[in-house]
Amino acid sequence: MGMQRTVVLIKPDGLQRGLIGDIMARFEHKGLKLVGLKMMRLSDEILDTWYAHHKDKPFFKDLKAFMTWTPIVAMVWEGQEAVSAVRTIVGVTKGYAADAGSIRGDYGMSGSQNLIHASDEPQNAEKEINLIFTQEELYEYRSVSEELIYSEAERS
Ligand code: CMP
Repeated sequence: MGMQRTVVLIKPDGLQRGLIGDIMARFEHKGLKLVGLKMMRLSDEILDTWYAHHKDKPFFKDLKAFMTWTPIVAMVWEGQEAVSAVRTIVGVTKGYAADAGSIRGDYGMSGSQNLIHASDEPQNAEKEINLIFTQEELYEYRSVSEELIYSEAERS
């Protein structure tokens, strides 16, 4: 158990479909804390590193083309066990198989145009944060709702 940070990207299909606000609201309402947020175009270099584990897959070229179709919205969310909590909210890769109530389950049908990226484990979250955010773009602040969201023991 512990406080973690995790990266969420709203992919070009999420932007095109006007789902940015709805997607962000899911994380806000859950009680996660927003500590970084920006709109950006992903470069070739970033995508080669980001998806290095997919570079030999047949869909790699299409994946890169898709991820550069429009700018994306990148954010960092913080909270207890944030990496797995966010993955649960996002749902499994393929929209048609994702549980109702998850973002992909509620808004998507595709296995590739799946609206959103979320870091899969804490070490990758750290790598992804460092790849697209500078230290100055990450914020530390006290949210007044923390006392409602977490018990005293969880906060200390
Ligand atoms: P994600 O799981 O966030 O990260 C890898 C991405 O590659 C995945 O979302 C999809 O967008 C894409 N992807 C995964 N599998 C396939 C596939 N079989 N065909 C096309 N795109 C895929």
